[in-house]
Amino acid sequence: MPRGAIRETAQPTSEACADFLARHPSYAGTGALDKLRSTEYRRLDELGQVYLDYTGGSLYGDSQIQKHFDLLRSDIFGNPHSANPTSAAMTEHVERARRHVLNYFNAGDDYILVFTQNASGALKLVGESFPFARGSSYLMTFDNHNSVNGIREFARARGATVRYAPLVAPALHLDTIRLDQLLSDVDPARDNLFAFPAQSNFSGVKHPLDLVAKARTKGWHVLLDAAAFVPTNKFDLQAVQPDFVPVSFYKMFGYPTGVGGLLIRKSVLPKLQRPWFAGGTVNFASVQGQAHVLSPNEAAFEDGTLNYLSIPAVEIGLRHLQSIGMDVITERVRCLTGWLLDELLALRHGNGRAMVRIYGPVTTQFRGGTVTLNLYDPQGHLLDYRRVEELAGEQGISLRTGCFCNPGAGEIAEGLTEEDMRAGLTMGPEINLLSFVRMMQERGHKSAGSIRASIGLVSNFADVWRFRQFIESFRDQTRLTIGDVSFDIDSCRIIRDGA
Ligand SMILES: Cc1ncc(COP(=O)(O)O)c(C=O)c1O
Repeated sequence: MPRGAIRETAQPTSEACADFLARHPSYAGTGALDKLRSTEYRRLDELGQVYLDYTGGSLYGDSQIQKHFDLLRSDIFGNPHSANPTSAAMTEHVERARRHVLNYFNAGDDYILVFTQNASGALKLVGESFPFARGSSYLMTFDNHNSVNGIREFARARGATVRYAPLVAPALHLDTIRLDQLLSDVDPARDNLFAFPAQSNFSGVKHPLDLVAKARTKGWHVLLDAAAFVPTNKFDLQAVQPDFVPVSFYKMFGYPTGVGGLLIRKSVLPKLQRPWFAGGTVNFASVQGQAHVLSPNEAAFEDGTLNYLSIPAVEIGLRHLQSIGMDVITERVRCLTGWLLDELLALRHGNGRAMVRIYGPVTTQFRGGTVTLNLYDPQGHLLDYRRVEELAGEQGISLRTGCFCNPGAGEIAEGLTEEDMRAGLTMGPEINLLSFVRMMQERGHKSAGSIRASIGLVSNFADVWRFRQFIESFRDQTRLTIGDVSFDIDSCRIIRDGA
């Protein structure tokens, strides 16, 4: 079916809707989102698309792009930060958007906002500017996006100790005892950084935000990756007080792409050392004198020309979320996720074996709407998740598969060990997911990679119902398997073929 064609889609029966509402009565209070979906997001249903990749990126409403285009057409905007009228007009919009973001996250007078290209750009700024040195530490949770893992290269290059705090399978929450030990094992006189995600982009786990205060009292600066949390949760900087918070705005409200932000606590600013200077970041620079004086605050971090025409759309997007109300979004995501988890866990093959293995919490306590899973055949053979994604795509269902740039959570979820990973790395450039999965099956009957369905801003019951129907279609399916090792989901054990 060509992209963009109108698709006739099966809809949940009135009994299924009534059953869902009986199990999740608070969903009824989120009806404003149904109205919004039928107006601003009408294209989703007109095109029969089931969008379940909100952790990849959220979706924009029609009014966001309309308001942005209206603004662009209403004035002449030049490159900001000059005194000429077109530049000054743009500067005003950029600074207005900056103030709006700071107010949205209740920054008070304690934070600055640096506009970046995305969350990864924000994380790179932290990595290159944090004063890692011999004797200081960089501690991360296993559960982190690669753009947080990547900071370890800056830490290592400057002689800091790099360590990881483990997770506990199958719920994939933090091993709090081990984390306590790691947090305590630090020289508080040094510049130490602890990084964790407020919500996992792999498992949807919401890690406890009070870890920020705990780590700070033990002598750590804290980087709280909020990229996967803020799209569906309220976040209050004054209440949590991390030192660094990266976000990507497209993950919150879909448009614009290419703009992210780094919130930096003002008190940590004097410690940060930028490794270079660029256009826009200096108050003064001389060729003959071969010296420069960095600008203060956010200007020191915004290299070159900002994505200035897009930045006003950030304020428009935040107002869009505010007009809906974050509590409404959080509650709707909670109801849909709870229903989906219960339904997936209840799916059984004809022989009674579970069809779906969920990675992460199986209830909505301490988790958001990111649901990661694998499918198994009646004998417990893993189904090829890439083929599952293709089949979903044929039905207009957008999922994501792989490891979602979060290798640590994936390794723990699949029971992969350090030795397994080192063995995989010996394949050199030949390594790819299939060859790695084959090698893992030979080594210890494990798999690597999974399917992620993520629920967000304008998800509705029909979306999760259609996804459930799609997954149910794999009942008693014996094709699409990869590897010949069997796994019993209920007991989490390897089983003999045919047992
Ligand atoms: C938790 C988390 N951190 C960081 C990122 C990186 O975001 P970006 O790709 O927009 O730089 C992502 C993206 O999925 C994420 O989920």
